[in-house]
Amino acid sequence: MCGIVGFVGAEQAAPILLDGLTRLEYRGYDSAGLAVYDPERGLQLTKAKGRLKALADLTNGGNSVPGTVGIGHTRWATHGEPSYANSHPHLSNSGRIAVVHNGIIENYLEIKEYLISQGVTFHSETDTEVVVQLLEYYYKGDIVDAAFKVLHRIEGSYALGIVCADQPDQLVAARKDSPLVLGYGEGCNFIASDVTALIKYTKTVSYMEDGELAVVTRDGIQVYNNLRQPIEKEKSIVDWDISDAEKGGYEHFMFKEIMEQPEVLRKAAFPRIKNGRVELEALSLTDDFIRQLSRICIVACGSSYHVGMVGKYILEGLLRKPVDVALASEFRYASPIIDENSLVIVISQSGETLDTMAALREAKRLGAKTLGIVNVVGSTIAKESDDVLYTWAGPEIAVATTKAYSSQLIVLGLLGVYFTQVLGTMPDDEREELLRQIQLLPSKMEEMLSYTEDIQYFASQFFNHESIFFIGRNLDYAMGLEGSLKLKEISYIHSEAYAAGELKHGTISLIVPGTLVVALATYDPLFDKAVSNIVEVKSRGATVLGLTTEGRESQMGKVADAVITIPETHPLLLPSLSVVPLQLFAYYVALQRGCDIDKPRNLAKSVTVE
Ligand code: M6R
Repeated sequence: MCGIVGFVGAEQAAPILLDGLTRLEYRGYDSAGLAVYDPERGLQLTKAKGRLKALADLTNGGNSVPGTVGIGHTRWATHGEPSYANSHPHLSNSGRIAVVHNGIIENYLEIKEYLISQGVTFHSETDTEVVVQLLEYYYKGDIVDAAFKVLHRIEGSYALGIVCADQPDQLVAARKDSPLVLGYGEGCNFIASDVTALIKYTKTVSYMEDGELAVVTRDGIQVYNNLRQPIEKEKSIVDWDISDAEKGGYEHFMFKEIMEQPEVLRKAAFPRIKNGRVELEALSLTDDFIRQLSRICIVACGSSYHVGMVGKYILEGLLRKPVDVALASEFRYASPIIDENSLVIVISQSGETLDTMAALREAKRLGAKTLGIVNVVGSTIAKESDDVLYTWAGPEIAVATTKAYSSQLIVLGLLGVYFTQVLGTMPDDEREELLRQIQLLPSKMEEMLSYTEDIQYFASQFFNHESIFFIGRNLDYAMGLEGSLKLKEISYIHSEAYAAGELKHGTISLIVPGTLVVALATYDPLFDKAVSNIVEVKSRGATVLGLTTEGRESQMGKVADAVITIPETHPLLLPSLSVVPLQLFAYYVALQRGCDIDKPRNLAKSVTVE
């Protein structure tokens, strides 16, 4: 969703704000704007519809905007179309106060009606504008005072950046259910939606918590709780560099992140494997709890949900305990049957997905133990879960997730192995072999990534299809879900994934001569069944691109029109390898179609609204 950034210092603010926004553009990119305090002319607003480049061009990279204090925003529209009027920052009617916001003010209509009845005029369709007009309504000379009053009145989710012309040496920031990071520089300080915007300037940060308000000046940052009591924030040092958040010579972040996967697997898995066993960082989950566990429920959205779908097969296979997978957006409203003997595993790259966060809170309310598998350190889901396993994938910038998916999958697998150690459901030699195979995954992946020409070729053959189906059974079905999502989100080709045996119960009516079916058949126990399903679609004229393991290519070649192979590995690890060609296929198809791969239309990386 939207990205916000704020700066107070001695240097010109606008170029720094624009630089920060560049790194946040993955959060939303339909319009952008800046509000900077100019000592000569007061608060100055510059906004532009479209990509951030339009704003950069308008301001000559920020150089034409004077002033050393300001806020910036890149928008993913929720209320009101992308337009100049609806883009942020929003300005109060007197021109004294400017606000940027990420989130949704749920009671904005009620507040808007009230303010209109008081003679306040509105200029946009946004929910955000009520914040700035309400600030002005309450403002009696102290912006912090007004901000606290506003925070007690608004409902919903927000990360807010506020600048007031009467107190031009400070920014005010506040958060509830939307991320906000404070950055400590030398002679300057920052706010931002995430650390990628700050890392060039400082590695020392604090993560704001719900209900907190921060007053940010050149010399320091004072944070208050919701009772307006000053509090001390813990500072953290970010342990990655600006180069991790840059393209490093690649054309797209997505491709760079696909290529980073072997290293990501090493980082996520190797330190957790010791002497043939899995050792996880200190968890509050006791062995007794794991033994009496009646049910595991995995909750997530999008690709993280697909990790859960793979995880169900893996965990049920390893533990022989029931594992359900739920979409976070459904979970919280479905009266989930979980209790204190349940473990709810929430999976989230960003750690800020609102639906997943809400599901986590619901699980806690129902008494379940919760464990987060999260990439972004210090994120809300990481902090609110009873236990967290970080995926250590580093910053993921492309909207379509790749390396985070792979890291989540391996961490979930390791968690499963850890549970087998407690439950005794896996003989030592089998566990050791599985862990040995995990350690071989990065080099196998490297080998796959060293030669991508065949997938490029297939993409060039199939990029103009308008509808593509993915079929598979068991783990291959779960992988088809991810392959299909990846393809559609970046190439805009309609795509569906089906359990191969299910296709004939309705969807096979859509298969007509020339329809492309990507058939996954890596899971050996069901290879023959998968072949039968391929033959079914071939009989209806489908063109089949088959995906199988090395050694099976000639059998696959007899039924499929084209074949991609992946190296052999432990059956439970096949998804870690089969995801790679699916990612590459989506990438090259989108490239052929001239799509904006890193910033697909209508999407945003971090979905902080319901
Ligand atoms: O940050 P999260 O893992 O919670 O995000 C969940 C989904 O929004 C995300 O996986 C989305 O589906 C990706 N764009 C898929 O590539």
